Amino acid sequence: AVRAGILGTGAYVPEQVLTNFDLERKMDTSDEWIRTRTGIRERRIAREDQAASDLAFPAAEEALRVAGIAAADLDGILVATTTPDHVFPSTAALLQRRLGAWNAWAFDMSAACSGFIYGLAVAASFVESGRARYVLVVGAEVLSRITDWEDRTTAVLFGDGAGAAVVGPVAEGGFLSFVLGADGGGADLLVLPAGGSRLPASHRTVEERQHFLKMNGREVFKFAVRIMAEASEEALRRAGLTKDDLDLLVPHQANLRIIDAAQERFQLPPEKVVVNLDRYGNMSAASTPVALHEAYRAGRLSPGNVVLLVAFGGGLTWAATVLRW
Ligand code: ACO
Repeated sequence: AVRAGILGTGAYVPEQVLTNFDLERKMDTSDEWIRTRTGIRERRIAREDQAASDLAFPAAEEALRVAGIAAADLDGILVATTTPDHVFPSTAALLQRRLGAWNAWAFDMSAACSGFIYGLAVAASFVESGRARYVLVVGAEVLSRITDWEDRTTAVLFGDGAGAAVVGPVAEGGFLSFVLGADGGGADLLVLPAGGSRLPASHRTVEERQHFLKMNGREVFKFAVRIMAEASEEALRRAGLTKDDLDLLVPHQANLRIIDAAQERFQLPPEKVVVNLDRYGNMSAASTPVALHEAYRAGRLSPGNVVLLVAFGGGLTWAATVLRW
């Protein structure tokens, strides 16, 4: 049987930095509040002419370069995003054109912040079944476009960026387990109300600010702390491993207090937990791949290391995977 693993990763974040102090000037908030409640210090904001595919492209190019795979060798492209360039065509199709990946099928996945790990699971299934050899998985978000800059309870949390991974066959190691889950009962806790078939764009939806993300932060927080622990433990169990085998935890970057809860539960030293939300905020589907790539770049991943990726988000959804690097 073919084993699937990650052959290379890449990341891209826009140049423009928006600090907490910049936000203090725009709205009734403070660096102190944002830092102590979330751990975020600054985030990146895309240029006006940058859409999701523009952030995805350099991240994808880097992942291909690191993997040593040509774009023409790709059999498939998956883009996980809540902020696609358009409702259709898919951002994946636009990325296929940019890359010249003419042999690849392409489609987008909507699983909010869990999207990248959902994408890895789909890609791994294609590779393991022999239906594809190389699949590019990208998490790309321009959350600044759906952020309500008049709502301080959400505006301080999000940022823009993209991360990518090439999934393909590996001789040993690779993905050891996946856990994917959803609870549509919590669908209303995190939602972009308008712009779909339920509330198509109209003067009214614009006036009512329905094209911006709405979140019940407190309920999502409680859900997140619980599901991060449950999904992680289940992924380790399915891999036949325990927390003591873990070399690196790459959690979704929504709130440092949520990450700290996971770190405490698994009694992990700080060097085994990847944190980048201080610099980027929550980049939804881009958070986990950017964190994974930065860990790789920083030399925090050695062959044979056991890595746990775990995320939660709108849907509600959650996902975790254990892999041997
Ligand atoms: N600046 C200053 N004060 C603020 C701000 C702000 N930016 N935002 C809220 N406050 C105030 C509130 O008005 C409230 O004041 P009050 O007590 O007078 O009513 C007070 O701060 C506390 O507000 P809470 O909402 O209770 O703050 P909490 O500690 O719960 O933190 C937060 C809020 C950061 C949103 C937290 O609930 C959280 O991180 N939730 C999880 C969010 C998440 O993980 N989302 C991930 C999904 S992302 C995706 O799928 C796209």
